Amino acid sequence: MDKVNIPPEHVIAQTIRINKSVTMGPETINILNDVSLTIYGGTSASISGISGSGKTTLLGILAGLDLPSSGTVSLLGQTINDMNEDQRAQLRCGKVGFVFQSFHLLPNLTALENVSLALEVVPNSNQIRERSLAALEHVGLAARSRHLPSQMSGGEQQRVALARAIVTKPAILFADEPTGNLDYATSAQIEEMMFSLCKDFHSALVVVTHDKALAKRCDQHHVIEAGRLV
Ligand SMILES: Nc1ncnc2c1ncn2[C@@H]1O[C@H](COP(=O)(O)OP(=O)(O)OP(=O)(O)O)[C@@H](O)[C@H]1O
Ligand SMILES: [Mg+2]
Repeated sequence: MDKVNIPPEHVIAQTIRINKSVTMGPETINILNDVSLTIYGGTSASISGISGSGKTTLLGILAGLDLPSSGTVSLLGQTINDMNEDQRAQLRCGKVGFVFQSFHLLPNLTALENVSLALEVVPNSNQIRERSLAALEHVGLAARSRHLPSQMSGGEQQRVALARAIVTKPAILFADEPTGNLDYATSAQIEEMMFSLCKDFHSALVVVTHDKALAKRCDQHHVIEAGRLV
């Protein structure tokens, strides 16, 4: 698989005036209101805001995991509004990495198998085992390759999730509070890894975080309040 490089002068992900609402019984909840955000290739952006302000929802829409109720979303040069789930998955495959707020590792697979999964879905991938091991080595977990998630600490599981997100050398990496549940030293380590991997691979980075120092390190910093960018 060839690495897709999107230079900083090109938009890699964008929302234009998006809204997201969900209906629950008689009630309609407006989660995002009129959000316009542009991410350029190889650059970093942070999103912060209090719990429930819409950060995860916005990240999911930017990454093409979810669609807005109205407004336009583009990812990797394509408008995704009219794409179904399969078409969006195909567009993301190998080019978009995502580190979820709650790791999302498969409990019955080892660290190595969890990382390999990201390559197994990319057509014509080769050297899956070697590349997955190299990614685990990158996050300092080569010795844990045969461990199940339940046999690893929270920080180690998050590093496996990071290895899985970057093993395909994605053009853009999304990370939802990747250091949220970790102690200071482990957070600093994960943060360092994320930035250096993105730099090595020229990947764009969009990170949801409460950590002011991490947010400041990014090229752009966004704050969301009750579903609106401020
Ligand atoms: N599928 C859904 N159905 C109903 N409400 C939802 C749904 N998804 C999100 N919400 C609501 O939308 C708001 C924003 O949720 P979101 O997960 O985006 O917040 P967040 O900023 O990531 O919060 P946190 O910091 O706690 O992770 C919350 O009030 C949440 O309850
Ligand atoms: Mg969240």
